[in-house]
Amino acid sequence: MITFDDVVKVYPGGSTAVDHLSVELPTGKLTALVGPSGCGKTTSLRMINRMVAPTAGRILIDGRDVAGQDEATLRRGIGYVIQHAGLFPHRTVLDNVATVPVLVGKTRREARKSALELLERVGLSEEFAKRYPAQLSGGQQQRVGVARALAADPPVMLMDEPFSAVDPVVREQLHREFLRLQQELGKTIAMVTHDIDEAIKLGDMVAIFRQGGVLAQFGTPQELLAKPADDFVAEFVGRDRGLRSLSFDSAADLTVRPYTADIAYEGSFTKADSLRLVIDLAIRSPKGIAVRLGADGEPDGYVTHHDVADHLAGRQP
Ligand SMILES: Nc1ncnc2c1ncn2[C@@H]1O[C@H](COP(=O)(O)OP(=O)(O)OP(=O)(O)O)[C@@H](O)[C@H]1O
Ligand SMILES: [Mg+2]
Repeated sequence: MITFDDVVKVYPGGSTAVDHLSVELPTGKLTALVGPSGCGKTTSLRMINRMVAPTAGRILIDGRDVAGQDEATLRRGIGYVIQHAGLFPHRTVLDNVATVPVLVGKTRREARKSALELLERVGLSEEFAKRYPAQLSGGQQQRVGVARALAADPPVMLMDEPFSAVDPVVREQLHREFLRLQQELGKTIAMVTHDIDEAIKLGDMVAIFRQGGVLAQFGTPQELLAKPADDFVAEFVGRDRGLRSLSFDSAADLTVRPYTADIAYEGSFTKADSLRLVIDLAIRSPKGIAVRLGADGEPDGYVTHHDVADHLAGRQP
């Protein structure tokens, strides 16, 4: 657990970057720090590994104040990923990943072996290991950045806009891979982003900041979407938040109409899918319907998009 205990940061001659921040980032979960430019996200992140010193307040990792810890030891337990990956340009991909393990006392041979395994885990085959960063795409560089941060197997990871420098398609792919990896590894992650969609998608918890380094709301994605604390949060999570929150509502208790064999359909859903999917299917289908498949994989009912709207309004059709 990473605890911010009434943390303030005022840069010399500057305004307040972080204003009395108290929040707890749970162990083994990803917390997204999100908000407009200049609201203190990077500053908050860098206070965790002591790259920035707070003006007041304390930051604790598992109850231990970071201020009292040896900086080098502290940082060994904290992986750090930044935008554009920040790789060493004159080292091969393999050596970029193996550098930290060697620093912490692994033999070069061991470090390279585990580096190869890590590269594989982030989706890079052996052929990339000998290349230099400039010979990789942006998305591949980000993968190397993630592998490098994981190399010392740190319990804590700090990620500052790790996916923002790649195009939307590659970003989607990196998100999926990253979610899978995190499910397996269960690191305690603080991830900065200015993209609320990314925060909602990747975050177990989301901290929304406003200008002046003030925490506007902290909660699960569902809580932010369903109960924004104020107009700023409501505006920030977006106008179509009603639709977004459907991603969390299950189609399990949707009342369906009887399916008959003459109903042609394209899109189908199951009880395990979200209402968002059902609405998308129904709206896109020429007949405005979505067909449900039963446990045996055969159609067992259908709904119209009006049915879903009625369901949401609490009126069973
Ligand atoms: N080294 C510094 N010296 C003085 N002021 C700084 C310094 N670093 C950041 N600031 C100021 O502190 C505030 C917060 O900066 P920070 O980098 O934490 O914001 P951010 O939320 O990460 O923004 P962005 O989304 O643009 O990356 C800004 O007003 C910034 O100008
Ligand atoms: Mg920043």
